[in-house]
Amino acid sequence: MTRTPVNVTVTGAAGQIGYALLFRIASGHLLGADVPVKLRLLEIPQAVKAAEGTAMELDDCAFPLLRGIEITDDAEVAFDGTNVALLVGARPRAKGMERGDLLEANGGIFKPQGKAINDRAADDVRVLVVGNPANTNALIAQAAAPDVPAERFTAMTRLDHNRAISQLAKKTGSAVSDIRKLTIWGNHSATQYPDIFHAEVAGKNAAETVSDEQWLADEFIPTVAKRGAAIIDARGASSAASAANAALDHVFTWVNGTPEGDWTSMGIPSDGSYGVPEGLISSFPVTCAGGAYEIVQGLEINDFSRGRIDSSVKELSEERDAVRGLGLL
Ligand code: NAD
Ligand code: LMR
Repeated sequence: MTRTPVNVTVTGAAGQIGYALLFRIASGHLLGADVPVKLRLLEIPQAVKAAEGTAMELDDCAFPLLRGIEITDDAEVAFDGTNVALLVGARPRAKGMERGDLLEANGGIFKPQGKAINDRAADDVRVLVVGNPANTNALIAQAAAPDVPAERFTAMTRLDHNRAISQLAKKTGSAVSDIRKLTIWGNHSATQYPDIFHAEVAGKNAAETVSDEQWLADEFIPTVAKRGAAIIDARGASSAASAANAALDHVFTWVNGTPEGDWTSMGIPSDGSYGVPEGLISSFPVTCAGGAYEIVQGLEINDFSRGRIDSSVKELSEERDAVRGLGLL
């Protein structure tokens, strides 16, 4: 059967995540091994030539699923008819830049991109924001797209989720495939809370299996939450292949579903669950089925977790207030 290609837009396509992402999208790792794709690459004018170079390499791979590549510096063109939008390009924090300056600079990127998605994207568009500060950039884009259902705007915490699985597997001497039901709550920042109280290691409760609150508080949580900074320190550049891998995981799971008996973590607009103010784009445990996600309900939140979730959510509220003050919402 011939399938209609899915239009996938990648912003910041000439960046390091873009380079790690595009070849895997074109080889079927975003949507599935039988789903053809058309790529739209959005870049700033100075980086269009580099994106053209990447497109030449994509051509040279002769990927059977890749049905076209378009490169542009115009968001209206990039998001025309798009089904999956991966918003990777963002303004990095420069020396001496205050948080407000960073939020404002990113507002200048995500607000027009949100509007272009609103005006041009396909009805079924799904948006993943990777560019930092990812949760608040997603909120800005969503606010500029009132005609798109709010739940289609998501932010990436899957890298944090994957990092946490890996650390827990190491600590317990188990395989990553033995870990289930881990949760990242809150912001994709150092305040995030990786929660193992509901997680399982080979079917047994992870917190009981580890039974080491000091490791949890002093090693596991800081290692996961500060992993991005540790990678920048070691590599001299932020995570790229692991970030691209997490973006693929996020969209693949959203579209194709979570495995039976497991869940994942996604930054999504809060419906007020677990005391997270409605509308904030915060990370939650979610299950996915039929191309939609649902927050896992009914988890008991102990005092250890409550304080940590609340402090990450407080940071998200402050970021929202800051961008509101800048007229970006
Ligand atoms: P990079 O600097 O290598 O690439 C960014 C690219 O975006 C550049 O090519 C730049 O020209 C482009 N760009 C800038 N403004 C643009 C615009 N308005 N439209 C289109 N393209 C634009 O950065 P990178 O390493 O690829 O990282 C990209 C972003 O992802 C950063 O914000 C980084 O902090 C973030 N990140 C997020 C996570 C996460 O887990 N959420 C993980 C890693 C990195
Ligand atoms: C990461 O978690 O690796 C990145 O978000 C770090 C960064 O600041 O780019």
